[in-house]
Amino acid sequence: MSQARLASCVPLPLENKVLVNVIEKAKDWALMHGVGMRDRKHFNKDVIQIAPFVLLPSPFPRTEFMKAVELQPVLNELMHKVAHDDQFLEQTLQNALQVDEFTKNLYDIWVKVRNEGITQSLCLGLFRSDYLMQRDGNKIKQVEFNTIASSFGAITSNLPAMFRYILRSMGYGDIIKNMPENRALSGLCAGIIEAYDLFGVPDSLVLFVVEEVSYNICDQRFHEFHITEARPDIMVIRKTLCEIYEETELNDKKQLLLEGKPVAVVYYRSGYEPAQYPSSREWDARLRVERSSAIKCPSIHYQLAGTKKVQQALAIPGALEKFMGAGASSGRVRDIFTGLYSLDFDEAGERALEMAIADAERFVLKPQREGGGNNLYGEDVREALLRMRHSRERAAYILMERILPPLVSGYVVRPGAPVPPPLTDLVSELGIFGVIIGTKDKIYSNRQVGHMLRTKLADANEGGVAAGLGALDSPYLLDM
Ligand SMILES: Nc1ncnc2c1ncn2[C@@H]1O[C@H](COP(=O)(O)OP(=O)(O)OP(=O)(O)O)[C@@H](O)[C@H]1O
Ligand SMILES: [Mg+2]
Repeated sequence: MSQARLASCVPLPLENKVLVNVIEKAKDWALMHGVGMRDRKHFNKDVIQIAPFVLLPSPFPRTEFMKAVELQPVLNELMHKVAHDDQFLEQTLQNALQVDEFTKNLYDIWVKVRNEGITQSLCLGLFRSDYLMQRDGNKIKQVEFNTIASSFGAITSNLPAMFRYILRSMGYGDIIKNMPENRALSGLCAGIIEAYDLFGVPDSLVLFVVEEVSYNICDQRFHEFHITEARPDIMVIRKTLCEIYEETELNDKKQLLLEGKPVAVVYYRSGYEPAQYPSSREWDARLRVERSSAIKCPSIHYQLAGTKKVQQALAIPGALEKFMGAGASSGRVRDIFTGLYSLDFDEAGERALEMAIADAERFVLKPQREGGGNNLYGEDVREALLRMRHSRERAAYILMERILPPLVSGYVVRPGAPVPPPLTDLVSELGIFGVIIGTKDKIYSNRQVGHMLRTKLADANEGGVAAGLGALDSPYLLDM
């Protein structure tokens, strides 16, 4: 039976006095456990404010949650294979490369290092597969698959404890059993540590590639804290791409040297969008890292495999079977796909274009970008397609069916917002984290390591938390 609204974990609305009181407690808990971010408007390194969060964990069907969890290793392996299929990547990206300079720059680096001979065949993937539920039937549909800088695994690992505290303090201690534990932080860090050990050079470094200014500092630092606590012998250093350009070099063994020591693992928390490469220096830095013996998280072909174009190409009949065989797994993966269409200049592309112009509300138009805020919705889809109809530019986009998730009711707690907040209609997006380590021919590790939930106002198009739109959340599992 279709269901447009999921039941909240406790009866709502809350009485005003209770609400004000519990929000004060929750904010203090959040601040004292790093559920925080730096303020974009009044940036000050001495100050961390609460990250936006929902006051109560949002409902999510247990069976769909478990489905996503179980699929993660399957998806990890699929993306690993896609990334290692040179021909598939080339074919899939060729039209987009002609009009999308950013993807072209990434692609050119990949071709260059391939032609020179790959120095490091091991790849480390810290992935996150994102899902919205389709309101009609409440089944998960994949929004996208992130292969670079998949964020919020660290902060969201703290959220079950925050919600346990909130629910207990409201007298609902008996229901906390319905919140799954989240070990994303330790799982992601274990991936970095395992890669470090496979690199196997004593006194080598882990290098985090970071933005000029990190607003999402808690999420990043928790990884660093966790690694150095688990493994005091591992030194973690944070550098921007520009600093990497200035401060690193390759030695004759192609080791990437920083402060005179070889880098074992490079973990990108930046480098996924054009603005993070303001000059040729950043691109040179990226090329140097890619040429080196360091294990990259991600290697550049993992990043290319995470493009929207690849996601769309995998939905073409036969594509999954090519990578996974015709068994049950490919059927399970196909089940989570929603309509995905190419806008190339061919018959299928024309059909998709006409379909979206006629009924724009049904679609999302996506360029080959990461980081949120790049997609078009509704009337903007029609306008953009009419404008690009005869231009090669359209090949840089894919068209995706819009997923309409069920509503949940809840309170969003934001820094600086009036208390109490209104009870609002929200929708939740689930992210499942996965770790994979391997070469083209051998996979050393492949597992699901945790989850995140981010929740946004039901009428908002996008819900990026770092972008200030979404709120951090954790699933409250429903047996429906
Ligand atoms: N098909 C869809 N139907 C409904 N909403 C969607 C769809 N695709 C994307 N969205 C919304 O837009 C947001 C951003 O889309 P997407 O994840 O594809 O872009 P991104 O730039 O890669 O984002 P991120 O920074 O999360 O990696 C999603 O989190 C979701 O809220
Ligand atoms: Mg993304």
